[in-house]
Amino acid sequence: MDRSPITHEMQRMMLSEPTRQRIDQEVAKYPAEQKQSAVIAALSIVQQEQGWVSPEAEKAVADHLGMPAIAVHEVVTFYNMFNTRPVGRFKLNVCTNLPCALSGGNAAAQYLSEKLGVALGETTADGVFTLQESECLGACGDAPAMLVNDRRLCSFMRPERLDALVEELRAEAARQAPNGESK
Ligand code: FES
Repeated sequence: MDRSPITHEMQRMMLSEPTRQRIDQEVAKYPAEQKQSAVIAALSIVQQEQGWVSPEAEKAVADHLGMPAIAVHEVVTFYNMFNTRPVGRFKLNVCTNLPCALSGGNAAAQYLSEKLGVALGETTADGVFTLQESECLGACGDAPAMLVNDRRLCSFMRPERLDALVEELRAEAARQAPNGESK
């Protein structure tokens, strides 16, 4: 395995010019000596543009904001909206915390696991879905609850609603595939 050290220049190149410009717009919202307040926004921008936050991107963000790399790593690993490895087109986070677990959360996760043919934490071979467990989404009254791509909250996810969601997202993935190829 190549263990050559990551140089400062390689770290710098992890952030494209448009990414840097977007991050700097966030940095500008804070006093000059508090650049690190923009760390969550910066990481979100990196994830939007790269799909995940690699260790190299963490270091590049740390450099850009003048923060210790470990502090950026702590943020990335604390919030489960940040992907620490590549994920599929749709990330399905199924809540299995206690209130959801008592109302079918584990069953929903199991159902999706069998339907998609992947274990929790895995991505389907076609790259369309990543299935994950999630902590409480703040929608316990809607159990079982789940989140699609960290943005879309889905409520009362029993099998028929899970089937409809998967069908909808598969159709969307097929529409977005290059040359209309079905994924
Ligand atoms: S326990 Fe699932 S949303 Fe709160």
